[in-house]
Amino acid sequence: MANSKSLIAYFSRKGNNYVGGDIVNLPIGNTEVTAKKIQNLTGSDIFQIKPVKSYPDDYTETTNVAKEEQRKDARPELTETVNNMDSYDVICIGYPNWYGTMPMAVFTFLEGYDFSGKTIVPFCTHEGSGMGSSERDIKKLCPLSKVLSGLAVRGGSVERADKDISDWLKKLDLIQ
Ligand SMILES: Cc1cc2nc3c(=O)[nH]c(=O)nc-3n(C[C@H](O)[C@H](O)[C@H](O)COP(=O)(O)O)c2cc1C
Repeated sequence: MANSKSLIAYFSRKGNNYVGGDIVNLPIGNTEVTAKKIQNLTGSDIFQIKPVKSYPDDYTETTNVAKEEQRKDARPELTETVNNMDSYDVICIGYPNWYGTMPMAVFTFLEGYDFSGKTIVPFCTHEGSGMGSSERDIKKLCPLSKVLSGLAVRGGSVERADKDISDWLKKLDLIQ
């Protein structure tokens, strides 16, 4: 990303979540931890994708809301927009895998801007499903963008993922 301006945009839900077979309380969401590690390595700007209506504190209640949003192909409204999106060449987009793809708020985000000609770099955290169909879904939402190969990190392993993250960024030629 040496000669291009880059932005990390991520969705992450801290608090009550399911990690490695247990319900735990995450002080910082797994995807947020990963996004910050990418920021440390790349020096990118960073933006959190936040829905106006936040998800319930309870994990199971959140799964019910998320399932319903996916069924309805909903586009939850977001609290903030990126004003200077035109100035970015590379957009790293991060999210938890929710039912095989991105949370619907990330669909809202990707439909909200013109990413034509930009490079999109997906990454996700998950509990076994990896990237799911998210890369295909991003390509559908952003057909005129170059979508690079994504990185999937196990939620329970984010604190140990530094090498995986830097290897991936090097492989994509985004850092040296
Ligand atoms: C609503 C919901 C649905 C989920 N669906 C999946 C799934 O289909 N596959 C999977 O591997 N993990 C799934 N997970 C687990 C999350 O992807 C995982 O906990 C992730 O690291 C959470 O990231 P966050 O803390 O940044 O929100 C789900 C979690 C939630 C809350």
